Amino acid sequence: MTRLKTAVFPVAGLGTRFLPVTKSVPKELLPVHDRPLIEYAVEEARAAGIEHFIFVNAPSKQALEDHFRAAPVLEADLKSKGKHAALAKIRNTVLGDALKVVYQDHALGLGHAVLCAKHLVGDSAFAVLLPDDFLLCDTPCMTQMVEAWQSVGGNMVATVDVGRSAVSAYGCLNVTSQRGRVLSADGVIEKPDARHAPSTHAVIGRYILQGSVMDALARTRPGAGNEIQLTDAIAEDSKTSGLFGLEFAGQRFDCGQPAGFAQATMTMAGLAPARLSLAA
Ligand code: G1P
Repeated sequence: MTRLKTAVFPVAGLGTRFLPVTKSVPKELLPVHDRPLIEYAVEEARAAGIEHFIFVNAPSKQALEDHFRAAPVLEADLKSKGKHAALAKIRNTVLGDALKVVYQDHALGLGHAVLCAKHLVGDSAFAVLLPDDFLLCDTPCMTQMVEAWQSVGGNMVATVDVGRSAVSAYGCLNVTSQRGRVLSADGVIEKPDARHAPSTHAVIGRYILQGSVMDALARTRPGAGNEIQLTDAIAEDSKTSGLFGLEFAGQRFDCGQPAGFAQATMTMAGLAPARLSLAA
């Protein structure tokens, strides 16, 4: 059984849709209900057995790293005041040496961000989690993916059927067959024209990728939006590795924009109903 130990978190985005707050606070530290957005993705990876966490960060977003480092002065203060519950909360977020950070100096696309982590990932299969895609699931999405991937192998992406009107905002799978929740695909196209999209199965921000995707990324030229696209490298590598989509069980919120953030917060606070049984 191949074990998945490393996850890459591309977090260098400057959060322009959330200005002015993102002028000084990284978007990923904004709270969804009672915790920063990034914590959910890190916890999801941890629950799936990930032991090495790589942030592809921007130099201006150091606070994001600090959130996962030890805070000895604050810890000592809470301890001396007997605030044990608060102490547990901040200790739980400490990743220590398990967290590595690499900086993306230029915003050349998601594929470029992932490629920045190549020297830390090595040759093994690795996960990628985009914290903006907030996933509410009974069984965490990455755990569902690892389980499915153990039996099919290759490259695997989480998918949601977003319908034809929305598909041009996503990577879109060219699906050839389906077995239960697992889709087989022979390609993926980044942001297709809605009329020519090969399906309505959109890639959302959870990936399990073979190490060879890094080699494909190193050869990938700018694609849609003139950016180096992760999906283009996945399409190339999948010709030999194979490509699968998982229609995960759970609900997805697009926290890349303020309305999705608000919906996620409302749902987590119990103020809006959750829909966990189907991918949504
Ligand atoms: C990125 C990926 C795209 C994927 C999407 C999921 O796009 O390039 O393939 O479908 O994330 O959220 P972005 O949202 O950065 O435009």
